[in-house]
Amino acid sequence: VPPIQLLAISGSIRRNSGNTAVLEALRSRLEHSGKATMTLFGLGSLPLFSVDLEGARLPGEVRAFQDAVRRCDGLVICSPEYNYGMTGVLKNGLDWASRPSLKSPLKGKPALIMSAATASTGGVRAISQIRDTLVACLARVVARPDVVVAKVHEKIIDGKFTDETVLAFAEQAIDDLIAEIRITSGTR
Ligand SMILES: Cc1cc2nc3c(=O)[nH]c(=O)nc-3n(C[C@H](O)[C@H](O)[C@H](O)COP(=O)(O)O)c2cc1C
Repeated sequence: VPPIQLLAISGSIRRNSGNTAVLEALRSRLEHSGKATMTLFGLGSLPLFSVDLEGARLPGEVRAFQDAVRRCDGLVICSPEYNYGMTGVLKNGLDWASRPSLKSPLKGKPALIMSAATASTGGVRAISQIRDTLVACLARVVARPDVVVAKVHEKIIDGKFTDETVLAFAEQAIDDLIAEIRITSGTR
């Protein structure tokens, strides 16, 4: 059986993003455990969504992103909360991945949502918004206790996210995602 392939999406394109650091730490942890492979897709090169750019004029970056979402076995999203919501960067990416509507690469896709923020609330309000949007796109959001990373800036040392308690909890969430992938694919 080929290994499970996860696509990781950070809701922040900031150079020293804590959310990206959480995903990087999970990626190397999964690599060591052999449970799954994880690839990060940066949303920074996607244009702002417009129906005018669809069809024959679809930009290559958008096609690459849609293909990556379609090909992966499951999505791992980690996003900060901006002004009590998900970031514009992430919403823009999800809108691109949502097309064509109801038949998009997101349809039926198992997806795990996490958030990291500097606040002690860990960006939990972004999670509910992301969940609503993924449900609108018919993705299979993993139902489980939220993975929220509070005070993310205090848990990064030399650019690496290092909090073992958070990483162990996030790995349990990945296990739930893998279980969802196995249930929905029937074979893996
Ligand atoms: C425009 C803006 C709005 C923000 N709003 C919130 C917020 O509503 N709740 C929160 O917990 N943090 C908020 N923050 C702080 C972010 O949690 C913090 O910048 C976080 O580190 C961003 O994630 P990153 O490190 O992955 O870029 C906001 C930051 C910015 C730049």
